[in-house]
Amino acid sequence: MPVGRPAYLKQQVELSLRELRTERIDLMQLHRIDPDVPLADQIGALAELKAEGKLRHIGLSEVSVEQLKEAQSITGIASVQNLYNLVTRQSQDVLDYATAQGIAFIPWFPIAMGKLAEPGSPVAGLAAELGATPAQVALAWLLHISPVVLPIPGTTSLEHLAENLQAAKLSLTDDDVARLNALV
Ligand SMILES: NC(=O)c1ccc[n+]([C@@H]2O[C@H](COP(=O)([O-])OP(=O)(O)OC[C@H]3O[C@@H](n4cnc5c(N)ncnc54)[C@H](OP(=O)(O)O)[C@@H]3O)[C@@H](O)[C@H]2O)c1
Repeated sequence: MPVGRPAYLKQQVELSLRELRTERIDLMQLHRIDPDVPLADQIGALAELKAEGKLRHIGLSEVSVEQLKEAQSITGIASVQNLYNLVTRQSQDVLDYATAQGIAFIPWFPIAMGKLAEPGSPVAGLAAELGATPAQVALAWLLHISPVVLPIPGTTSLEHLAENLQAAKLSLTDDDVARLNALV
């Protein structure tokens, strides 16, 4: 259960400052909005910490456009982290709004492609045509669709890390993007 009581949020930031041995955290994202606490109180607590110089930027995670707008009416919002990838695009409206507002959009599960990445799938087919891997195609597509998208793929493998970094160099044509857009 998310806990968004202002005193708790402030305590967590103080603990993070101590653990990170820093005087200011560059980006603090409210991981989930607590439905039992007014959003204004949760964002207000972070805005106070920002005014005190303890936070540089404030972000949100798993929010709707309406929640994002409400938060923006209280303080500047630098980033949004919602679930989004080639096959899960329920947050398309949030991405579109973030793009229009110049808010960084961090898609979580950026390469979680499920069956679409299996051999013989459309993603695997396009990847083979491009001399790339399905993970690289998924990341290149994310980087292509909006300048505010910042994918942070998770990996425990150095091989995958190198592969994922190369995705930034993979250019997709309009036709490639149209094919990927049409997958869902
Ligand atoms: N805000 C939120 O609610 C929220 C929720 C979940 C995650 N996140 C954040 O989102 C980011 C990504 O999340 P995530 O790591 O769970 O999802 P992800 O990046 O979509 O997927 C990671 C999985 O993909 C595999 N993988 C990575 N590179 C690969 C490659 N080139 N080829 C094949 N498989 C590959 C990894 O296995 P290997 O280890 O074997 O490479 C791992 O199992 C993280 O920064 C995480 O903290 C945020």
